Amino acid sequence: QQLVADSLFAINSFAQKFFADQLWNTEEGQNIALSYLEERGFNKEITEKFQVGYNPQSRYTFSRLATQNQFNPELLLKTGLVANRNEELVDNYRGRIIFPIHNNTGKIIGFGARVIGKAEKAPKYINTPENELYIKSRILYGSYFARQAIDKNDECLLVEGYTDVISLHQAGIENVVASGGTSLTTDQLRLIKKYTNNLTIIYDGDAAGVKAALRGLDMALEEGLNVKLVLIPDKEDPDSYVKKVGAGEFKEFVAANKKDFVLFQLEVMLKEAGNDVNRKNDVVNQVAETLSKINKAEDFTKQQEYIRRCSGILRIDETGLTNLVNKYK
Ligand code: UTP
Ligand code: MN
Ligand code: MN
Ligand code: MN
Ligand code: MN
Repeated sequence: QQLVADSLFAINSFAQKFFADQLWNTEEGQNIALSYLEERGFNKEITEKFQVGYNPQSRYTFSRLATQNQFNPELLLKTGLVANRNEELVDNYRGRIIFPIHNNTGKIIGFGARVIGKAEKAPKYINTPENELYIKSRILYGSYFARQAIDKNDECLLVEGYTDVISLHQAGIENVVASGGTSLTTDQLRLIKKYTNNLTIIYDGDAAGVKAALRGLDMALEEGLNVKLVLIPDKEDPDSYVKKVGAGEFKEFVAANKKDFVLFQLEVMLKEAGNDVNRKNDVVNQVAETLSKINKAEDFTKQQEYIRRCSGILRIDETGLTNLVNKYK
């Protein structure tokens, strides 16, 4: 097991160096990939820091080199960097920008490979398949680069994607990690909790973004995290928004639009319920269930405070809500 892991690390490290070399030092890399990254406003320093690379279009550039370097074909297949086509190894991320994914010690556990330009037929990103190193439910993209800043700010910003993390770093906002666009897992929340109690989720404001965020709320409360939410407006995401308005305004926007996640959820549900008494009753139950997840001993005061504020907003009796919360425990 450890041997397999070590071999996969070795392949990934070898591959990263190859992809970076292709990006910076070949005509194809410069013309197709580097120019695309520059057009999107990523500067050289940040591209280098995140060890971004490029896998050329030809079928065999990486696979042949890897085979020549005696890497085991089965392990190569495990990394997802190559695929088996008619008993032949071919590059899997042809013509894509390569974002390495680092573990907490800076070793590469996998890659995200982005199509250049608009994704028309192919998927926009291809990610490493599950293997001994790449366990999707535990990955927080950018955590290696974010740890110090998370500590210093005692806050972790959570965004959706690779480019959101990289752009925010470029703007000097470094306490940021990405979930990879899927809903949060308990393992990811526990990793965050090791660094800080304060999680600020910054998602795009579309319905999918909000839903994805809300799905993580109860879990986050169970882990004892204080969760705030910021929704980025106008079809933007943190990457495009920070590039549009600049670092200063982005920070101001985040500070001014940070919402307490519990109260935000209540607001959303109340709006949906309107004047319907039955639906309002459902909302009360939902809130009670959510608040029941705050059950770590040291969070008792926090729970009391939420009960006070939620009962106020709902215009219901505080003791009644307390009893209901306790029923859900
Ligand atoms: P987005 O579609 O928001 O992409 O997906 P993005 O991060 O803004 O990327 P750019 O700016 O267009 O380059 C958010 C995240 O969801 C995952 C990736 O981790 C992505 O960063 N995703 C998205 C995939 O894994 N596969 C996909 O096909 C699309
Ligand atoms: Mn800390
Ligand atoms: Mn979205
Ligand atoms: Mn996005
Ligand atoms: Mn984007």
